[in-house]
Amino acid sequence: MRHRDAERSRTLLGFPQVRAMHRATLEGPPPGPPRARWLPPRPSRTRPSRTRPTGTCARPCPHRPSPAPACAGALRERRSSFGRFDARREVSAGHLSSVLAACAGTRLAGDTDPSGEHRLARLYVFVNHVAGIGPGAYAYDPDRGDLRAVVTGPQGPFLQENYFLANYNLEQAGAVLVPTVRTTAVLDAVGDRGYRLAVATAGAVAQSFYLAASALGLGAGVALGFDNVSYAERLGLTDGDEAPLLIMALGHERPGPADFRHEIA
Ligand SMILES: Cc1cc2nc3c(=O)[nH]c(=O)nc-3n(C[C@H](O)[C@H](O)[C@H](O)COP(=O)(O)O)c2cc1C
Repeated sequence: MRHRDAERSRTLLGFPQVRAMHRATLEGPPPGPPRARWLPPRPSRTRPSRTRPTGTCARPCPHRPSPAPACAGALRERRSSFGRFDARREVSAGHLSSVLAACAGTRLAGDTDPSGEHRLARLYVFVNHVAGIGPGAYAYDPDRGDLRAVVTGPQGPFLQENYFLANYNLEQAGAVLVPTVRTTAVLDAVGDRGYRLAVATAGAVAQSFYLAASALGLGAGVALGFDNVSYAERLGLTDGDEAPLLIMALGHERPGPADFRHEIA
């Protein structure tokens, strides 16, 4: 598709710093073959011992949606839940596992990762109401498909206090997923264009999230209006370079949405 800007403002304001930043991030890859392993290893840190919470998503996902047949319908159905989350129906551990696996499987094609081997995002999940998984914050291990407890106990008040808008009751979501990207390491590795890479990664994970939730008949809502410093503290990330970039709420919705035809709104 070819696009042209259609500018209708009477007065146009330009900001040299913004233009300079756009120019810098649009620069192409450095000359030469793409580096195979361009991201330095994660700094090692002392972690609490691995505890496998009871009934975690430890086994391979039992309900992973087959993407091909589900895709067109799921794309048509996908939408944001906004205030409709309803905790009365718990999310199943299998559904949470499927959505986590879909998010973790997201890859950006491109010269920084031609073989699709680099997992730029890590995933954490705040569990509110998931069958068989106690409330708490967990780190997701995509290779083993299981969860490691970071904080135990109800997370609803933390989630709501650290969300800036009033349109979601995050405690009513079954779980809130949080993708993190090592933004500093990405910028060190590829320069200014790392900003686009980090943000595109978070965006791609958000799209996988919406699509997987839609395929499973679950409500979803991605939000940027949150205090990511508090999230980094809660997830024990302050001594590393992982930055929480989005919060992604997942859960069942209230039944009977008053016949609202969101798809034609
Ligand atoms: C990166 C990102 C950040 C967002 N941040 C917020 C937010 O803070 N609060 C919110 O209510 N919606 C947020 N949204 C959701 C958008 O408002 C929503 O996707 C948009 O209204 C389109 O609606 P639809 O997803 O139902 O098509 C965000 C979406 C994305 C992709």
